[in-house]
Amino acid sequence: MMIAIDGPAAAGKGTLARRIADTLGFAYLDTGSLYRATAKKILDNGIDQDDAAACANAAMTLTPVELASDGLRTEEVGQAASKVSAIPEVRAALLEYQRNVAANPPEGKKGAVLDGRDVGTVVCPDADVKFFITASAEVRAERRYKELREVDENAIHARVLKEMKERDERDSSRAVAPLKPADDATIIDSSGLNADQVFEQACDIIVAKRA
Ligand code: DC
Repeated sequence: MMIAIDGPAAAGKGTLARRIADTLGFAYLDTGSLYRATAKKILDNGIDQDDAAACANAAMTLTPVELASDGLRTEEVGQAASKVSAIPEVRAALLEYQRNVAANPPEGKKGAVLDGRDVGTVVCPDADVKFFITASAEVRAERRYKELREVDENAIHARVLKEMKERDERDSSRAVAPLKPADDATIIDSSGLNADQVFEQACDIIVAKRA
């Protein structure tokens, strides 16, 4: 069974995806981490972001160490990931890896949960269950701000909101695989819900699909 979870930054899709994967004993792939690792490599090595071939090469040659590297979750890397993920050659370089995890979940697991921006639309259009988890930009910025404040007391709320909106705009308006719900995705607006409530709604839908 393959479950696709897409949505904008800080909507709660990672928390949901991990919990579903743990509950069902499925593999979990955070596809954003592939774009983040690519972006970090590009930043660390001073690769020109306008050089599509060099950026695609950075994606194609990602190593397990780079994928597990510290510092992938920073705002700087998130913004850079949003930029390099708009390069079609970078997306093409990462596509097969994602499809392979979905089709052949590691360790003999019986299914996979992938989260990202284009899992239900491009990576796995035949996924058994598709969710699009969203929330207002204000609610998402507030969540991200609280996370950031725990590690950086200089975090500024207005800046987090501005960057969130910029990233939404870039991810939604790019020409290739933009952020959008698949036609057959269930949309869950998590603005007024806690993580348990989102999980319960998602479980009801998965149980109905499996019946
Ligand atoms: O989910 P995230 O914040 O870790 O993703 C970082 C960036 O990577 C996001 O702004 C856009 C890009 N991304 C993408 O284009 N496609 C995906 N499937 C996942 C992430």
